[in-house]
Amino acid sequence: MEKLQMNIAFADISLARQGALAVLVTEGTTLRGVAAELDGKLGGALKRAMKAADFTGKAGTVLELVGPQGVPASRVLLAGLGKSGDVSAAGLEKVGGELAGRLEKTTETALSIVLDGIAAPKLPAGEAAARVAFGAKLRSYRFDKYKTKKKDDKGQGLKSLTILSRAAAAARKEYAPLSQVAAGMFLTRDLVNEPANILYPREFARRVRALSKLGVKVEVLGEAQMKKLGMGSLLGVGHGSQHESQLVVMRWTGGKASEKPVAFVGKGVCFDTGGISLKPAAGMEDMKGDMGGAACVAGLMHTLAARKAKVNAVGVIGLVENMPDGKAQRPGDIVTSMSGQTIEVINTDAEGRLVLADALWYTQNRFKPKFMIDLATLTGAIMIALGKEYAGLFSNDDKLAKQLSDVGEIEGEKVWRMPMGPAFDKMIDSRFADMKNVGGRDGGSITAAQFLQRFVNNVPWAHLDIAGTAMASPQTATNQSWGSGWGVRLLNRLVADHYER
Ligand code: BES
Ligand code: MN
Ligand code: ZN
Repeated sequence: MEKLQMNIAFADISLARQGALAVLVTEGTTLRGVAAELDGKLGGALKRAMKAADFTGKAGTVLELVGPQGVPASRVLLAGLGKSGDVSAAGLEKVGGELAGRLEKTTETALSIVLDGIAAPKLPAGEAAARVAFGAKLRSYRFDKYKTKKKDDKGQGLKSLTILSRAAAAARKEYAPLSQVAAGMFLTRDLVNEPANILYPREFARRVRALSKLGVKVEVLGEAQMKKLGMGSLLGVGHGSQHESQLVVMRWTGGKASEKPVAFVGKGVCFDTGGISLKPAAGMEDMKGDMGGAACVAGLMHTLAARKAKVNAVGVIGLVENMPDGKAQRPGDIVTSMSGQTIEVINTDAEGRLVLADALWYTQNRFKPKFMIDLATLTGAIMIALGKEYAGLFSNDDKLAKQLSDVGEIEGEKVWRMPMGPAFDKMIDSRFADMKNVGGRDGGSITAAQFLQRFVNNVPWAHLDIAGTAMASPQTATNQSWGSGWGVRLLNRLVADHYER
């Protein structure tokens, strides 16, 4: 795949830079340090422009001088960070993303960003610099492989970004794992953005196999193997498809051999037509992203392996295509899951839970994990409940739930815990089988979670309903992509903060 790569470097502070030169400033104070020195070289043009444009350094504001005299730079920018006490990692990422995005629309190909004496509370200068780079990197993502007419705008995008800081060496060290978080997120974004005629179950599995380069052990199970294992629930979903269903197992062993792994399980419905319970036409194209959970698990495994995380982790993804066809399963059909429990398929569009039922059962029995977290674009109802700002969190374990909520706040990938309980569980009892796959409109995301829980034994488990966050998310300074890459940061941080030795 031909991809525009932005090269990122860290260096000591210098004003002798070509291309665009940006200086980050906090709100209110007069120009100090390097900013003051720069203003001197520019004959006071910065101060005059600040006054004329009423630029005070508020967060999100940028002042731009084009073609200045006195420095080699073709353009000088001041970017506001807001009050110095409020500067955060997230704020710095945002500024990095905003500056990169702004220059993409120009003919500039190089950008230098100066951080002089900017350190957020509890954020060392090295990490602050790394976060700016991380934000710009996330912004630089593009998915334009199917555009044969390249670039209608003026520039070709930024080719190089240099972060100038007195803590350049520390920044370089901090940035190394972050660049692998970005790489994992980009893999997730790519997979979600790909159309379903290209990314069907086998092709998805093929792409995951590439993780073996990083030391991830990848196994792919086809339909015959899954049939032997008794995965009638997962297999029923793929019955109407021309594409063979796949179960992919990824293993990263960065911890002690004896240590139990942490496990991540993803819904990978490469396209969800609804099956015989066919979806309406409007917006159905979005269902190419119904493998967002699986894509997140693949991206996360990339990140963990590439940064050599000191943890044992497994990723299991169920890859299917949900199609209507003469062979497709029907409403009223009863399937037998690997657990032995029978399921009456009332609605073939409630297919994600059928896939996860067998994937969860397989994962807990084979790997006996420390915990199991599944991710799924499971219900439209979660968007009715939480919008696109929060993913739904369902869990049988308060500690794991709290850890997820906390890292979500830190990483800006927020989760909101939803209730569960016997009253909801009763709603999926079936007249003919052990359970049915829908519980009615009321509490639709919760009954879906209750269904999943029937396939979880005594293991700490969390389910993240990412229907609102994995795709079609609002565009931000650090994400312009349809597939957001949501979840990689969250789970990487969960592992880093709580499960690495
Ligand atoms: N993949 C959908 C959920 C979805 C909807 C994800 C919109 C992203 C955007 C899921 O398979 C589905 O169809 N769920 C049904 C469940 C219903 C039949 C009980 C839904 O949410 O309507
Ligand atoms: Mn569906
Ligand atoms: Zn679906």
